[in-house]
Amino acid sequence: MSQTPDSAVRTYIAANRIDFLEDLQDWLRIPSVSAQPEHADDVRRSADWLAGKLKETGFPTTEVWETPGAPAVYAEWPSDNPAAPTVLVYGHHDVQPAALEDGWHTEPFEPVVRGNRLHARGAADDKGQVFFHTLGVRAHLAATGRTTPAVHLKLLIEGEEESGSPNFRALIEDRKDRLTADVVIVSDTGMWSETTPTVCTGMRGLVECQIDLSGPDQDIHSGSFGGAVPNPATAAARLVAALHDEHARVAVPGFYDGITELTARERELFAELPFDEAEWLRTAKSHGAYGETGYSTLERIWARPTAEVNGMGGGYQGAGGKTIVPSSAFLKLSFRIVAGQDPARVEQAVTDWVATRLPEGIGHTINWTGATRPCLTPLDHPALQSVVRAMGRAFEQPIRFTREGGSGPAADLQDVLEAPVLFLGISVPSDGWHAPNEKVELDLLMKGVETTAYLWGDLAESGPTAAP
Ligand code: BES
Ligand code: MN
Ligand code: MN
Repeated sequence: MSQTPDSAVRTYIAANRIDFLEDLQDWLRIPSVSAQPEHADDVRRSADWLAGKLKETGFPTTEVWETPGAPAVYAEWPSDNPAAPTVLVYGHHDVQPAALEDGWHTEPFEPVVRGNRLHARGAADDKGQVFFHTLGVRAHLAATGRTTPAVHLKLLIEGEEESGSPNFRALIEDRKDRLTADVVIVSDTGMWSETTPTVCTGMRGLVECQIDLSGPDQDIHSGSFGGAVPNPATAAARLVAALHDEHARVAVPGFYDGITELTARERELFAELPFDEAEWLRTAKSHGAYGETGYSTLERIWARPTAEVNGMGGGYQGAGGKTIVPSSAFLKLSFRIVAGQDPARVEQAVTDWVATRLPEGIGHTINWTGATRPCLTPLDHPALQSVVRAMGRAFEQPIRFTREGGSGPAADLQDVLEAPVLFLGISVPSDGWHAPNEKVELDLLMKGVETTAYLWGDLAESGPTAAP
């Protein structure tokens, strides 16, 4: 297959760009915030809106799939070639909360185009990146003269990713028969930058817990009792202090067991990226880099597991002082995990470690919430080359490789459907995911459209179960 861009694809996309962007803005007006119960109807409206739009796009089957939480959208467009490979596209239609007072310049659910950017909550994470698949498949048909896609195309767009996908695994297990696929394409990650297009090859997993520590049955006088009974706030601080060693490695025994180490090739590929630590620190809004000895910043974010203190508290929080031994304290911890680590094993290791580190007289409970598994695409997977070629045609530039530090349910798709997961995203770090003034770069969005217009043909020709 030729690696040059296709003028029929570009012409079709250019002719439909305005309508495409108007439709996307309609969708962005629906505040589908899965975390906030008062938006439950909006999440449902978002699902219905998308199902309707996919029908209009030409998908012969579009369904809204109920879950005990928010609904997902499923669509199917079979190829007229029965031997074609099957591709399942994953994304999410729910968004993070957003309010004007968080620092937005304009209402988060009233999309605005400023210059070459479309601003709205969900513009990049993830409605924009789901939506490029609609025009993409139509451009693929228009340019090839086909009436059905070159692959059996399935879309599964969930409605509670931003709430930790609590019902996603059960949903895909229940519907496994409908979801069978040779490859999964996840469109919920990003690229290195506007000028360096990349394919992501992995996401980290995540486990989170709250540890509640209890001391005396109530706050007690620190003069009468302090120094002779254990203090739960001190116990909490000692746990936090012991979480990492002096090399910033996680000190929980067994934490690193089984992890897939970076290969020399991956380290080389990461090192090829034009990484500027000062600029990265500005994006991070941090005043220093810090992490595990022996690894670069990119390696730390993308390929190493972490233990993070997300919050801690306990004892007197008011004005002035209060001489007490507090009765309770708490920690909120999260652990990003990488390929080879199992959420349940990490949870057990931390649970066991905590139990051995508390003095007598300090009670504790640990509550684990949400577990997301890590996901890694093998660099030598043939379908990865299809993504690289399709992106290469759209961007007319070499495509490099990244991973992401964030998490999502991609690995559940990989496990349940027993299919490799590939990532296709066009978002860039400056898009401000979860932040005020989230945006998507319109030129990159259109490159996403173009990439998918090439991808289905490429996968059909050279994919894992290539057509005759
Ligand atoms: N699209 C992101 C995941 C992501 C984050 C990919 C950063 C690449 C870089 C997803 O919508 C997300 O925000 N995931 C959450 C999961 C959480 C809400 C359970 C995350 O990573 O914190
Ligand atoms: Mn997302
Ligand atoms: Mn997100």
